[in-house]
Formats: sequence, structure tokens, C-alpha cells
Amino acid sequence: MSEKAKLILEGKEYELPVVIGTENEKAIDISKLLETTGYITLDTGFKNTGSTKSAITFLDGDNGILWYRGYPIEQLSEYASFLEVAYLVIYGELPTQKELDYFQRSISHHTLVHEDMKRFYEAYPTGAHPMGVLSSMIASMSTFYPGSQNPNRPFKDIELTMHRLIAKMATLAAQANKVSIGHPIMYPKNSYSYTQNFLHMMFALPTADYEIDPVVDDALNKLLILHADHEQNCSTSTVRIVGSSQSNLYSSISAGIAALWGPLHGGANQAVIEMLERIKNDGGDVQKWVDKAKDKNDSFRLMGFGHRVYKNFDPRAKIIKKACDDVLNRLGIHDPVLDIAKQLEEVALKDPYFIERKLYPNVDFYSGIIYRAIGIPTEMFTVMFALGRLPGWIAQWKEMIEHGEPIGRPRQVYTGSTKRDYVPIPKRG
Ligand code: CMC
Repeated sequence: MSEKAKLILEGKEYELPVVIGTENEKAIDISKLLETTGYITLDTGFKNTGSTKSAITFLDGDNGILWYRGYPIEQLSEYASFLEVAYLVIYGELPTQKELDYFQRSISHHTLVHEDMKRFYEAYPTGAHPMGVLSSMIASMSTFYPGSQNPNRPFKDIELTMHRLIAKMATLAAQANKVSIGHPIMYPKNSYSYTQNFLHMMFALPTADYEIDPVVDDALNKLLILHADHEQNCSTSTVRIVGSSQSNLYSSISAGIAALWGPLHGGANQAVIEMLERIKNDGGDVQKWVDKAKDKNDSFRLMGFGHRVYKNFDPRAKIIKKACDDVLNRLGIHDPVLDIAKQLEEVALKDPYFIERKLYPNVDFYSGIIYRAIGIPTEMFTVMFALGRLPGWIAQWKEMIEHGEPIGRPRQVYTGSTKRDYVPIPKRG
């Protein structure tokens, strides 16, 4: 017999179904709660709320486990290419060679961005943050492909939009960077792999080719794979909720980019480097900054520390920390902020404040140091996160549409004034 939860309200007993996931995750199904009891649940920040049943990513925060479609990220980041992982996340299975060839060809085929879009760049002010630029450029894509508006089109049409997004977002991201530094835009080179092409568009000049170092290429591939999906986080939930109104995929992804931008989410990778620089420039007294992070009267937090779900370690951070050492060693770079990062981690991990609250370095703690070593400007770090997360956003949107999920519309408990009558200004005193 399937398990039930019992709820007693105002002396009356209700039975609620229990849902059990593949990895024995348990949830109480409250979808009929309001209808049967007149009550809703209250869970600010959705800390205990499952918004969907999903078959894409499994995450066990206590044991530091992360799988995409059942495959551990340790194996995927070691052996697979980013496009192979993107295919896995979106289509549900690892591709055969034939499927991968088709996917790669299709992505390469769509890398060019409509020439009219270049004119948008002229309108952004100097120093415009590339996340703002990327988010609006992706939203603008929906105007270039008006046929993509209906999310319930035949799969072949939807697939075209997905491929366009994966191909063109890399081009748009690299173009945004070029524009921000006043360099001419570099066009994609379709003979390159996804990561090689991105490095080319970021760093080559019309006057000089960019020589692609395999170590850099490999590090970028790893970083993108480690960001590919992370179940129902802030930006992914945003993509699903925007998409649930039957809004088109471009607009949903654009909203996801906006959600990712914040420093508590993807924007943390930029914030970490800025924090490490600040500590270095302040004399490098790591203990002083750890004390500031603990002080409840000080708004400062250790960026790159803590996670809503991981309460033991972030498996992505473990892989990235090693990749960071490898990249810096192989490129012969000594980055003083890496020393600060290591000291900070050491001090914080021994501190009862961080131990009691289970605060560990997260994915963003070391990724910025690798991006810096590769030559990616600080403001582009969150764009890199967005590029990596794109397959996950697409897969989650596709799953939500395929499941025919209803429009996302949470309830609230109203705490405002009770009814009162309008008073004209002269009588308000
Ligand atoms: N530095 C100092 N104290 C912290 C930190 C931190 N980085 N993170 C959490 N705390 C404290 C917090 O003050 C609270 O203490 P108390 O119980 O005394 O009030 C306790 O730990 C629990 O924190 P919370 O804010 O309730 O936890 P949350 O699950 O709502 O927030 C978080 C998770 C990631 C937003 C938060 O840990 C944080 O702000 N970290 C820094 C930003 C960051 O690195 N974000 C990247 C997350 S990983 C990339 C991604 O997937 O988005």
C-alpha cells in the first residue's frame, strides 16, 4: 500500500498522498490541499517546496552528489564534450556518434547571428554589463524568429529554436565582450568545436589568429559541463515559470539570464573575484574578512560560500578547484588571489560559524580564477555561467511543456490592512 501523510486541521483528519522519487526522495503531495482543507502552505524562498517532478538532474546535497540523467558529473566532466552533455541533458540519453555528428553540425550551422542585431550593440552605453546585453539580445531573438512564438509547435520546429539558441548564444556572448572592449566582432568559424569557436570569437582579432591551447580548451569544456544543469534553482525556476504562461523559449531563457545575474546566484562568480581583490588590496588579512562575514551587523558575506542545497560539499567546486590548479600550473601563472582564496577557505572551514551552518565553497569560488587565467574579463564570468547553464534551461523548459504543466502561480498569505474606505486628500489631515 502506498504511504500517506496525515494532517489534522481544526480537529479533522486529512490524508495526503506521498510521492517517492527514483532515489527515494520523499514528498507530500499537497496539490489538492486548498480544495479539500481551505488551507495553503507557506514556504518563503521555496526551501521545502517541490515545484515539479523532473527526470533531468539528481542532486543530493548531504552527500555532494550531482548526476545529469543518471550520469555523475565527475565522469561527464572528465570524458565528455560540452555538446555531448548538452545533448544528454536535453534529449535524455547520451548521443550515438551519428546523433552527435548531427547535433554538432546543426549547432555549427546556426552560429551566425542576424546582421541587423549588430546595430543593437551601438545603442548600449560604454561599459554596459554583458549580462544585461545578453539578456536583451536573447529576448530580441524572438523578434527575428516570429515563427517561434508558439511553444506547442511540432518538435522539429522547437528543436530548431533550441539549436539556434545554443549556437547563437555563444556568438552573442563573445560579440558582447568584443563590443565592450572596443574591438571588432569576430565571426564564428564552423570548422572549430563549440569551445574552440567560442575562444576564437572571444580572443582572435582580424589582424591575428588566436592560438587555442588545449589546456584552456579543456578547462572551458569542464566548466561549461559543470554548469549544465542544477535542477530547480532560481534561474531554472524562472525559466519554467515564464514558460508556463506559454511564453516563447527565447523570452523564457532571457528571463533565466536575468535571474542568474544576481550575486546570490550566478553573479557570485564575479563577486568572488571582486571580493578576493578587495581582500588582497586591503592587505590580505583573511581573518578580518571572515570576522566581517560572521558579524550580523555587517552585510558582508563570503561570496562563493554556502549553498541552498549542498550542506557537505559542492561536488562541482571539488572538480573546479583541481582544474584551477592544473590550469594555473600548466600556463605557469601565479595568481595572488588564488593564495587569498586558499587561505580564506582554510580559515573559514575551521571556523565554528561556517561549520555549524554547513557553509562550504561552492562552484563559484574557484571558477573565476580559471576564467581570469584564460583571459576572460571579470564582467563576463556570469555570462560564462549562462552559456553553460543554457542546455539545462532548455531541457527544463522542454520537460515542463511536454508534461503540460499548468501556469505557475503561487498563493500568498495577505498581511495588509483590512478593508477601509477612500478618504479625499483635504480630509486626510
Ligand atoms: N557568508 C556568511 N554567512 C552566510 C553565508 C555566507 N556566504 N551564506 C549563508 N550564511 C549564513 C546566513 O547568514 C545564515 O545565518 P543565520 O542562520 O545565523 O541567520 C545561514 O548561513 C543560512 O543562510 P541563508 O541565507 O538562510 O541560506 P540560503 O539557503 O537562503 O542561501 C546562498 C544560500 C547561496 C544564497 C547563501 O549561502 C549566500 O548568500 N552565499 C553567498 C553567495 C554565493 O556564493 N552564491 C552562489 C551560490 S552557488 C551558484 C548557484 O548555483 O547559484
